[in-house]
Amino acid sequence: MKKILVTGGLGYIGSHTVVALQKAGYETIIVDNLSNSSLNVLGGIARITNVSPTFERLDLRYKAEVVDFFKRHSDIEGVIHFAASKAVGESVEKPLYYYENNIHTLVYVLQECVAHGIENIIFSSSCTVYGQPETLPITETAPTQAAASPYGNTKQISEEILIDTCAVENMNAISLRYFNPIGAHKSAEIGELPIGVPQNLVPYITQTAAGIREKLSVFGDDYDTPDGSCIRDYIHVMDLAEAHVVALERLLDNKNEEKYEMFNVGTGRGSSVFEVIEAFEKGTGENLDYSVVDRRPGDVTAVYADTSKANKVLGWKARRTMEEALASAWKWEQKVRNS
Ligand code: NAD
Ligand code: UFG
Repeated sequence: MKKILVTGGLGYIGSHTVVALQKAGYETIIVDNLSNSSLNVLGGIARITNVSPTFERLDLRYKAEVVDFFKRHSDIEGVIHFAASKAVGESVEKPLYYYENNIHTLVYVLQECVAHGIENIIFSSSCTVYGQPETLPITETAPTQAAASPYGNTKQISEEILIDTCAVENMNAISLRYFNPIGAHKSAEIGELPIGVPQNLVPYITQTAAGIREKLSVFGDDYDTPDGSCIRDYIHVMDLAEAHVVALERLLDNKNEEKYEMFNVGTGRGSSVFEVIEAFEKGTGENLDYSVVDRRPGDVTAVYADTSKANKVLGWKARRTMEEALASAWKWEQKVRNS
């Protein structure tokens, strides 16, 4: 069994990816500092897969601890690096924390991979690197644009660090540029657990339907889109998780054409905020209280992926519908509230 290190593996996307990795026959070892997750996630993973992943509580900002960890686990064959902070607004308030937590951690992980001959790494990037693209859907060759936040900048800098490292070291890397992950594992054993008031649309919708939030604010209906609300590419988190397994296998099987590659991971379909609300109401039978408020600063009008590179080169395609993702998010919300 190949041993895969999953940093940030107790988080939202990481935990679903650990499930996909274990189902595909990999041994996983998770490191996480629990800054945005809980130990309960381990139980959820174990109930789905019947295997409890190895876990070490580790803060990747502390180089000496990272060095010590890799000394003890030099038999790792691949790394999926999720650990990072991800709140766009918070990154504006605390830029240095974001540069430390998102950049230092990547550098330390890469240094130890190089030191121990670990040659394969998958990195969590984001469609934020494209800003507001001039043409839609967005292909990987679209120019990246100046980041609108320190968070977005950390993703651009991280991709550059990977490019420069792969150019000179025995290292192969794939950046997956995620569009908007939503939903939960169908068992509702794991899902997204935002701390405090959710910033993202779908957790806000489910918490409103559950009566935790009074009403949803739709941030603007005067955008240049058919119904005036912003358009995004919402991808089921399990589809995204499975993309990591496929990308990892490309590296493990030496099938990559370049030492550094990047792929859009979305569905290729754009949905407006009003369309998401309608799909949620229709799929769950819940009525959602919402009102239109001012635009949210920093929001781009529309982004959705051209996924043909991932479809052709990785042989991966999103299989689940947005309706399915919304239903799983609702099931998860209800389970969390009732437990
Ligand atoms: P998450 O916060 O749920 O997961 C991140 C995990 O990393 C958490 O469990 C957290 O405790 C851990 N972590 C953070 N700093 C750490 C450190 N210094 N040492 C060890 N562990 C640390 O976030 P997520 O939504 O699962 O995102 C995973 C990755 O994907 C992040 O890199 C994020 O920037 C990126 N991403 C997320 C989205 C999204 O919409 N969720 C979109 C694009 C990219
Ligand atoms: N929205 C609302 N009301 C809300 C929350 C969101 O109307 O309460 C709208 C936003 O204005 C936007 C859409 O719903 O039009 C989606 O917003 P999210 O906050 O869910 O997602 P974003 O597209 O803004 O950003 C997310 C992550 C980023 C990541 C990006 C791309 O928050 O970290 O996806 O992957 F970089």
